[in-house]
Amino acid sequence: MTTFVDYPNPYRPPGSDPSGPVAALTASLAQVEAALAAGDVACVMAEPILADGGMVVPPPGFLRGLEQLCHRYDTLLVCDEVKVGLGRPGMLHAYQLDGATPDLICFGKVLGGGLPLSAAVGPAQILDGPSAAALLTTAGNPICSAVGRAVLRVLQEEELPERARRAGERLRAGLAHLGNERIGDIRGHGLAIGVDLVVDRDSKEPDGQLAAATVYRAFELGVVVYYVGGNVLEVTPPLIISDEEVDRAVDILGRAIDDAAAGKVPADVVAAYAGW
Ligand SMILES: Cc1ncc(COP(=O)(O)O)c(C=O)c1O
Repeated sequence: MTTFVDYPNPYRPPGSDPSGPVAALTASLAQVEAALAAGDVACVMAEPILADGGMVVPPPGFLRGLEQLCHRYDTLLVCDEVKVGLGRPGMLHAYQLDGATPDLICFGKVLGGGLPLSAAVGPAQILDGPSAAALLTTAGNPICSAVGRAVLRVLQEEELPERARRAGERLRAGLAHLGNERIGDIRGHGLAIGVDLVVDRDSKEPDGQLAAATVYRAFELGVVVYYVGGNVLEVTPPLIISDEEVDRAVDILGRAIDDAAAGKVPADVVAAYAGW
């Protein structure tokens, strides 16, 4: 059985509590503790930044809070770094952002540099337990494994986490400089960036249609972004993006949001591509 709990969202915390992010954090950790206290839990899994759920950066202390709870209830903490790990967050691992140490980590996507490769990394006393669990058809493919080793080497030799950190700062600063009223929140670390599109900044009401139309218009103008969590542009470019490309992307995204907000993208055209 899997129990899902609310991910703490500082931009849209529960209720109207003025302590916002702290309240969101406390509420989520309380839900986790209730699940742990109720019984026999094998592990707690979390993304250090919630990617597909809307590029949500949790308040500081979230992962550390989970780590403490896992220790208290003798449970494993598993970090899913498949999407935002391995350099993208401006560090090698996203869990480092909160100073926590998981028992197990999952890697994918980046690790294979485009080839199918994923990995679960952890101590032998855990991973040696289920002896036949990794005997899948394509597991251990030698070409993909060699690519994985090369990816890890290049990430470190070319200092790509640091490069992502700098490029991400430039991107977020550029997006903030647009001053676009339909951008409610710009968040993220390194090159894991979310742009939360809203009806207006006061209500913070998510504008999913605007997000879909913006993605379509940005594609027409030359930038590929997706939207996650219904209304959040997911800006996750390659870690080797140049300053010039960052500036061009910011310019195009600004134009795409303006054009979409001005109704220049027909809804029926976008509808065929929407649905993520
Ligand atoms: C955070 C996260 N974890 C895991 C997965 C699944 O990875 P895989 O396709 O390698 O099973 C995804 C896929 O999008 C993801 O975004």
